[in-house]
Amino acid sequence: MISKSTIDAVFDISRVEEVIGDFVQLKKSGSNFKGLSPFSDERTPSFMVSPVKQIWKDFSSGKGGNAVAFLMEHEHFTYPEAIKYLANKYGIEIEETERTDEEKALASEKESMYLVSEYAKKYHQEILWEAPQGKAIGLTYFKERGFTTETIKKFGLGYALDEWDAFTNTALKEGYNLNYLSKTGLTIVKEEKRFDRFKGRVMFPIHSMSGRVLGFGGRILTNDKKAAKYLNSPESDIYHKSKVLYGLYYAKQAIAKEDNCYLVEGYTDVIQMHQAGIHNVVSSSGTALTSEQIRLINRLTKNITVLYDGDAAGIRASLRGVDLILEQGMNVRVCTFPEGEDPDSFTKNNALEDVLEYFENNIKDFISYKASLLMEVAKNDPIKKAEVINDMMSSISKVSDRIKQELYLRETSRIMDISEEVLFATLAQLLNKEIKETNKKTKQEKKTFEVIKTEKKSETVDVQYVLERKIIEILLLYGSMEATFEDLILKENDEGELKMEPELYEARVYEKLFLDLQQDEIDLANEKFKIVYYSAIEKLNETGELQLDTFINELSPEIASEVTDILMREEQYELHSWETQNIFVKPKEETINKLTSDTILNLRRKLIFEKIQRLMNQTIDVEFNESILEEVNEYNKLVNFLSEHLKRVI
Ligand code: CTP
Ligand code: MN
Repeated sequence: MISKSTIDAVFDISRVEEVIGDFVQLKKSGSNFKGLSPFSDERTPSFMVSPVKQIWKDFSSGKGGNAVAFLMEHEHFTYPEAIKYLANKYGIEIEETERTDEEKALASEKESMYLVSEYAKKYHQEILWEAPQGKAIGLTYFKERGFTTETIKKFGLGYALDEWDAFTNTALKEGYNLNYLSKTGLTIVKEEKRFDRFKGRVMFPIHSMSGRVLGFGGRILTNDKKAAKYLNSPESDIYHKSKVLYGLYYAKQAIAKEDNCYLVEGYTDVIQMHQAGIHNVVSSSGTALTSEQIRLINRLTKNITVLYDGDAAGIRASLRGVDLILEQGMNVRVCTFPEGEDPDSFTKNNALEDVLEYFENNIKDFISYKASLLMEVAKNDPIKKAEVINDMMSSISKVSDRIKQELYLRETSRIMDISEEVLFATLAQLLNKEIKETNKKTKQEKKTFEVIKTEKKSETVDVQYVLERKIIEILLLYGSMEATFEDLILKENDEGELKMEPELYEARVYEKLFLDLQQDEIDLANEKFKIVYYSAIEKLNETGELQLDTFINELSPEIASEVTDILMREEQYELHSWETQNIFVKPKEETINKLTSDTILNLRRKLIFEKIQRLMNQTIDVEFNESILEEVNEYNKLVNFLSEHLKRVI
């Protein structure tokens, strides 16, 4: 278990905008930050981070919370993992009480798989740097490939001894469970026998975006034609190939900063380019690019540059993947290398400035590139050519920017020597087909939407809920503020009449709320609000202020999420960028006294209404009852009085 003081220190130092900034590209927007939701596929930002409140809210998925909640949601960390991650990020030493065997056994399945993977990384590194075989074979191999000590350490490269079960035996001796060794694929279990999957290979650990080890790639060192050159960890609960990009952990900051991501094919391409000084590079590790992988990049930049090895067959095969990138509204450029070279060999054999110059001269826009490439194949074959044109136009139809689309079309017409009219007609056909398909889809969506809408209509707005929610919002945001309030005091005027007269007084907002509600014996009906209300009042009473971030951290996750929701409601409006439409919202601080009083009065009125309703219902079954009617009358007067008062502008 992590000690309480470590947890406190972590919460103290963590800044939600810094933590999230490592995963999502955030732009300043007023006093907040906004960005593309990392939880959905969107093009307009609906993800808000408030540095003041130290919370975030994703309006597209409804998720929200503090820095820890973000890590748990985004990285699928457990609570202790999130704390450890933050401690690591901010250089806080973790005080931990040693895990007992029982606790070890209780740790979740996934957690155990992460632990085993982390251990495997360390083990194979140790072999590489310390074991005679590791040094002689593994390390020598990496050095021959031109990797420096620093690079080898940074990427956590390792070596697996060329023995059947060296790793498995050591891991078991260290107390790791065979079940997890097998589930992560590190050990292959066949009846009574156990084999190391990666025996005799150099090891490339594959990290998540936040640096956790998910799996491995292992490269063979012999020229055995029968064995695969690279062997990878199998799919598992912690390793989903289609959702991982090799090198992203090391590249994410540079990708956002350079506003471009280089996409290469292999492990060694990533490492070699990184070593050369080009840090914004990731690899799909030999598999076809998936939309999930593209989404990972889309959060950091809109620009991808695909670097292809210098063999034409491979390039044509990977063109499809690029359409996926276009579909996500990203800009794609491509660059090929001279025959027989890949990004690894090319950066190894050339100086950085020459590599960059080569990029400058050879990076082409994807559409023009594809047109030229396909043209070469189809030059003298009319049937092929027709096929190729369709293929080309299908890519162009994926480009969402209409101007770009037209420019591409013109360019294609020139390269392929086909009239623009024909291409426009083809494009129109394709778009039409697409529209029909989306229409079908939206029709279905509309149907479900309508059902929900009619359901909503019949259910009246819960006024009390809205008002109670407002009270919580005021309490949390402005509770400690001083404001001038007015009370109505019964006074005798010069003519000897009794009249309600306003009297001004200074108070803290939370005092006003608490005293007014207490005076009327009003208790919040919503159980969650009630808990928040009393904890906030208590905190304010004790310390005179409410530190929102620590306050939220002390609430249970369910209630914390409710609170985040309330607090981020304002930010939702900011997303519509009202400033740009010349609508100015009056700052709440100026009118907080009116807001507070009105909310309380509204709640009172609502409760009195209910009381009247109840009394009226009584008169139906009871015989004519003067006293009840009188009571109703009195309450009606009160309602009128409150309504009048609410209409007045302070
Ligand atoms: N790959 C794989 N399994 C294979 C071959 C390749 O998973 N049998 C993946 C690896 O991620 C590899 C990438 O595809 O890095 C590119 O393959 P290739 O170009 O053959 O390898 P290189 O990265 O060039 O490897 P090396 O330079 O070490 O030969
Ligand atoms: Mn290579």
